[in-house]
Amino acid sequence: MKKMVITIDGPAGAGKTTVSRALADRLEYKYIDTGALYRGVALAAKSQGIGADDDAALEKLCDSLALTFVWRQGLLRLVANGEDISDKIRTPEITMLASAVSARPVVRKFLLTVQRDLGREKSAVFEGRDMGTVVFPDAEIKFFLEASEKTRSYRRYLELKSKNSQSLEDVEKDMRQRDKNDSTRAIAPLKPAGDAKIIDTTDLSVDEVVELMLTHIQRLV
Ligand code: DC
Repeated sequence: MKKMVITIDGPAGAGKTTVSRALADRLEYKYIDTGALYRGVALAAKSQGIGADDDAALEKLCDSLALTFVWRQGLLRLVANGEDISDKIRTPEITMLASAVSARPVVRKFLLTVQRDLGREKSAVFEGRDMGTVVFPDAEIKFFLEASEKTRSYRRYLELKSKNSQSLEDVEKDMRQRDKNDSTRAIAPLKPAGDAKIIDTTDLSVDEVVELMLTHIQRLV
């Protein structure tokens, strides 16, 4: 099979992470979680006391921020200026802050370069919000995952349960706010690319989604 970039976009809780990992495994591709990069910027901004709307300070911050992915024992880790921040970026606070900084053009411009560099060798599955529309408009294969709001919040709740004590109601509230931020922002809003295959994962298992994707890929290449 030729080397390709595969993009998987969609809202939180649509199943992107699990499915992207599984698809990358099946194809022996790299899996890249671009949301982690926005979370990395958010964490750096927080630790330096920079507000999510302070464009000048965010630009300076990005200039001095080296974000890289490393694969340790098969797991993707995010390293910022030498520090492994993979666990620190998963708190509810950083989740909301990532959504806020992701609306700032200076941050998107910085991460556009980081993401395109990561895609240069192809053979990668990129998970995010604007992979098929903005970052890799020429990607060979594009998917957009969606699921009912109830299903998405519940999945997120289960995922977070072991890490923090957010109630289902709080998860729902945060998710609704984030959906709104991510899909109404002026720059690179969350939406399916015109040539993306849309999959509703509400009633599908991970295996079923991956099989649908593999069938779609075989049909196109
Ligand atoms: O996928 P995630 O939940 O880790 O993403 C965190 C935030 O980052 C999300 O609310 C919006 C932003 N994001 C983005 O704007 N573009 C991407 N390609 C990935 C994430």
